[in-house]
Amino acid sequence: MSDVVIGLDLGTGGVRAIAVDLKGRIVAQATYSYSLLTPHPGWTEQNPSDWIESSLKALSDVTQQLNGRQAIALGLSGQMHGMVPLDAQGQVIRPAILWNDQRTGKAVEEIETVVPRHDLIQRTGNPAVTGFQLPKLLWLRSEEPQAYKQVRQILLPKDYLGYVLTGETATEPSDASGIGCLNLASRQWDREILAALKLSSDLFPPVVASTAISGRLKADIAARVGLPAGLPVVAGGGDNAAAAIGLGISDRQPNRGSLSIGTSGVIFVPCDRPTPDPEGRVHLFCHADGGYHLLGVTLAAGGALRWYRDTFAPDIAFTNLMALADSSEPGARGVLFLPHLAGERSPYLDPDTRGAWVNLSLAHSQSDLIRAVLEGVAFSLRAALEIIQEITPVQQLLATGGGVRSPLWFKLLADILQIELVAPQAEEGAAYGAAILAMVGVGAYPNLEAAFEILPEGGNIVHPQQCSAYESAFERYALLYEALKAVR
Ligand code: XUL
Repeated sequence: MSDVVIGLDLGTGGVRAIAVDLKGRIVAQATYSYSLLTPHPGWTEQNPSDWIESSLKALSDVTQQLNGRQAIALGLSGQMHGMVPLDAQGQVIRPAILWNDQRTGKAVEEIETVVPRHDLIQRTGNPAVTGFQLPKLLWLRSEEPQAYKQVRQILLPKDYLGYVLTGETATEPSDASGIGCLNLASRQWDREILAALKLSSDLFPPVVASTAISGRLKADIAARVGLPAGLPVVAGGGDNAAAAIGLGISDRQPNRGSLSIGTSGVIFVPCDRPTPDPEGRVHLFCHADGGYHLLGVTLAAGGALRWYRDTFAPDIAFTNLMALADSSEPGARGVLFLPHLAGERSPYLDPDTRGAWVNLSLAHSQSDLIRAVLEGVAFSLRAALEIIQEITPVQQLLATGGGVRSPLWFKLLADILQIELVAPQAEEGAAYGAAILAMVGVGAYPNLEAAFEILPEGGNIVHPQQCSAYESAFERYALLYEALKAVR
């Protein structure tokens, strides 16, 4: 019987566990969801105990499907940026604050008052960002001082899961660079930034390589889920980096990145040096392959279309919405849509910006409004891609996520982004990338390049076509954010 590795991705909606054989085939999988807590508008939290319960159930389900195959490693991946505060006994002090939480406006200002924005970008790849972990810690210090006094360590979501599984605390660069105080050049905590903020680096776990074995499965957990005690647990990657590894995206294959249209829209482009956008309009993080990557994020992508459907057309299926959009025309007959329904990351980093349709007339119909939503999301991603292209050239994006299953949205994205899009033959997401990292971690493959050989070849390629209606609409779209600031 063949060996397998387990990949575990701790997402925001739920956890996914998979078992992958050493030829890259998924032989078992399980998912469990958990709830999102929103105790105040703009706050998002989860109970780490819910993550653990669901993860252990998913692991048990997967091991039951192994039919005698032997698990040789487990790799981790997860939602980035969240904060799990632990006390001296390693107990969780309060619910985890998540990546999409917006409570930290004041803490962001505090960070940039103490460490000049330019310095922060040069050292960490990013300015202070509301969703990152570091401002959450400052928020805790000023708003929940009793809780803060008990804090001995703070962990990212997947690293907390790793801690429960192994008893060891560790993180790795792809996720740690989303905290806000990792020095990208050294891939270690930036002690000067921490000292300026009067924080001890002991609060943060040691940083190991993404393919390093960060601990071994504790006997009690192993017995509960049916995996071998002492199973190597590999540090893994933040969800975007892990998903990219699962697609073979690495700077060893230059000019190739990925585009994902899920709830949010993400452009991921690997690079070999930590060169940030000087204005911090796109993120720069460490990649799980030892290099770096640029990341453009549009917070409401598929989420904007879903909002449209839920609000205005609950009885219309997505395929029919797409058919309606197709009956409009490129440029949506003049209607523009700003997709800032959840604030925006790239290129504005503005949690308070809001969405809009503009240029409506009595002549417009539902098809134009829907088409404008699809185009607005693509324009937002184009704005991020233009910034990325100035730093590192990219010619092709592997396109994943529910949104690109629509042929209309796929083609419209290629035409608006002016880039070749490839539909990969399989898209297994971050859990798959975590499994690949684990294979390398335990030496099943000598390095990532060798492991990438087992990934399926890319699929159908869509080449961009020039479309003047999109070009002129994008020029007008680019003016909307500033123009609408006055009416907030
Ligand atoms: C990346 C980001 C999201 C989260 C949620 O910066 O915030 O992709 O990792 O999954």
